[in-house]
Amino acid sequence: QSIFNCPERSPLMAGQKIQAPKGVSEYVPPRSAAFEFVRESLIEPARKAGYQLIELPVFEDTELFTRGVGESTDVVSKEMYTFQDRGDRSITLRPEGTAGVMRAVIEHGLDRGQLPAKLWYSGQFFRAERPQAGRYRQFYQVGIEAIGLDDAAIDAEVIAIADAGFKAIGLSKYRLEITSLGDADSRAAHRVDLVKFIAGMKLDEATTARAALNPLRLFDDKRPEIKDAMAKAPLLVDYLSESSRAHFEQVKKYLDVLGISYVLNPRMVRGLDYYTGTTFEFVHELLGAQSGIGGGGRYDGLMAELGGQSLSGIGFGLGVDRALLAAEAEGVINENSFVSDLFIIPLGDAAKEMAMKIASQLRGAGKSIEIAFGDRALKGAMKGADKSGARYVIVLGESEISSATVELKEMKTGATSSVKIDSLISAI
Ligand code: HAM
Repeated sequence: QSIFNCPERSPLMAGQKIQAPKGVSEYVPPRSAAFEFVRESLIEPARKAGYQLIELPVFEDTELFTRGVGESTDVVSKEMYTFQDRGDRSITLRPEGTAGVMRAVIEHGLDRGQLPAKLWYSGQFFRAERPQAGRYRQFYQVGIEAIGLDDAAIDAEVIAIADAGFKAIGLSKYRLEITSLGDADSRAAHRVDLVKFIAGMKLDEATTARAALNPLRLFDDKRPEIKDAMAKAPLLVDYLSESSRAHFEQVKKYLDVLGISYVLNPRMVRGLDYYTGTTFEFVHELLGAQSGIGGGGRYDGLMAELGGQSLSGIGFGLGVDRALLAAEAEGVINENSFVSDLFIIPLGDAAKEMAMKIASQLRGAGKSIEIAFGDRALKGAMKGADKSGARYVIVLGESEISSATVELKEMKTGATSSVKIDSLISAI
């Protein structure tokens, strides 16, 4: 059933309002400033660890996702925005970032340079899910991928980068859950017993088909009867090969060294099929049903699956929308951090010219400056200054210009001081 087969809708009349499509997240002022702060906070730790930007298309060949993400997943089987383009190619709006990054790494030979290739990205992703608080059809992620090395220290560093991003926002009410999905040997051994176990369960046709594609998917099933039945299912962590176990022990050791606390969740399988080895999720305590604010893990087979050489990788995707909701729920977003430094109210044309000159100088020096345009009377302009939330305000009139001195008013306290225009930069 394609989401594009919409029921006939009567055409919109000219002049009638058009609304955003259902379930998309969009950010307009003043909240957009908080959104930007959250996104930047999540990106910065990756930049500091030497990750480089990769900008990719939001649409790709559908096969990239069916092969890369896996047909047993909800994301591929139910949630993709897939359509035929005008050249009759099957195109899909990216539901996640890892497959596209891997496609680009192979296409541009980034795996033939210094390894690991360390990349970050940020942007919109698309999943035709049932919209609810924190679950959107278009949402934002910040992600990183480190491709080409199997060192357990990278796993810990990737997790630490995500953690640093959440901390930079000011979040504290979240936990990190980790597990290992093992290597191919571990999963093969586990699969034998899991398939036997599942054969003893009563399942409908669709679930049986999903389990045949990937039996691990049943750990993800939200239906209570399946959850109950799966409570006794054999766990992958009990089947880890010697090398998988050793790798996971190392990851935990490095997390301990970094002082990052975690809880083990041996039932976590994640919603995408490419995961192997270390996998993790960040879960926020105040977000209710959509509490996953980020997740990721290793993917040993993805590159080969997509036609590249056999290199492993690890990365994460952090939900910017949900991290913002979490920050609001924790009350850590400080609206005052997104306001201008100075608001200038010019009275008269000469003052307006002067205001524009001062603004351009101070902006050049890194300050954020607003000017009251429109030749409004002082009272109205003051209201504008108030609304803007700017830290300081000055009024520029004839006497201020002739004395080259202004009254600098701190908006929060109402305190004023006399300041030479030349010294405004140090005063604010
Ligand atoms: P994911 O767990 O599917 O992983 O998504 C990562 C994060 O994106 C989630 O934890 C959640 O915060 C956010 N998210 C997912 N779906 C929605 C939605 N419908 N509305 C709002 N937020 C959402 C991945 O996408 C992997 N590519 C991550 C990764 C990178 N693994 C390895 N490298």
